[in-house]
Amino acid sequence: MVLRIDDLILRRAGGVCLLGPLSLTLAPGDRLGLLGESGSGKSLLIQALFGVLPPGVVQSGGTLSAFGIPMDVPGPRRDALRGARLAWVPQDPLQGLNPLLTVAEHLALLPGIHRKESRREALARLAPLVARLGLPSDPAFLDRFPHQLSGGQRQRLCLAMALSCDPELLILDEPTTALDPLVQRAFLDLVLDLQRERGLGFLWITHDLALASAACDRLLVLYGGQPLEAGPIGNLLSAPRHPYTARLVEAARRQPSMEAGFLPAPEDRPEGCPYQPRCAFRQASCTTWKPWRNTPEAGFRCEHPLQIPN
Ligand SMILES: Nc1ncnc2c1ncn2[C@@H]1O[C@H](COP(=O)(O)OP(=O)(O)O)[C@@H](O)[C@H]1O
Ligand SMILES: [Mg+2]
Repeated sequence: MVLRIDDLILRRAGGVCLLGPLSLTLAPGDRLGLLGESGSGKSLLIQALFGVLPPGVVQSGGTLSAFGIPMDVPGPRRDALRGARLAWVPQDPLQGLNPLLTVAEHLALLPGIHRKESRREALARLAPLVARLGLPSDPAFLDRFPHQLSGGQRQRLCLAMALSCDPELLILDEPTTALDPLVQRAFLDLVLDLQRERGLGFLWITHDLALASAACDRLLVLYGGQPLEAGPIGNLLSAPRHPYTARLVEAARRQPSMEAGFLPAPEDRPEGCPYQPRCAFRQASCTTWKPWRNTPEAGFRCEHPLQIPN
């Protein structure tokens, strides 16, 4: 298994649960979407995977592994994966870039660590990829610093870095949120082409159902830190069973990007199903709802699911 997460639970140091229990698996070449509103714990999941949880957040349960190697315990075997077989395009490109390094230095960074390539060797090997990503390759551009690039160029530089050591799994944390729709579409097409050519698997994190349905073949829907529904994207779009998924599908039909909803802060989350205060189908039993242990590959977690349309 390329990626395996079992019953992961993340908490604030004070004890409030931020995410989980959450389980997921990714096989080679899988295209899994993780869909959830802002604040639902998506970025924390990736930070836990890469061992860079922010101060104040702790993992209080579960395990994470990539290619059979535990990612939640530090060690050289884990470090050898990060940026090589397993690569991450962060939500904020500036988070992935060092203000003191030039474009060329960024491109050569991971190949230097993981492949012991010189800068010249790395740039020569990566020239076709850089061109493919639509980044200039003239010396003046290669000598620029992150603040001298456009938002789209920064994001493509992060993608070039993520791809620089031929990863088998790409983790994309809302990579296109800051891009305008045309650039967003070009970025999506590029990742899908690379996915097909290289058999690359990806975990695409987004709050945009339209984007997720264009990018992925399987989806895990998160709300308030809880997975509520999972399954093949076609099933979720045509016959959502959780009212929250249904609402997302309806909103995506009305307008291409997801409606902004009100997500309670982690400490204000209700008893039971995290969606029940907003749910049109709420009943008393929704407050005694139990979260999933071992999120299934396909299924929904709801006391009063929507019926399958005939
Ligand atoms: N350093 C931190 N300390 C405490 N709480 C945090 C910290 N970072 C994030 N959180 C909380 O964790 C929740 C999930 O954050 P995040 O994973 O960034 O959400 P998403 O990526 O889905 O928008 C948020 O409610 C946020 O308030
Ligand atoms: Mg995020």
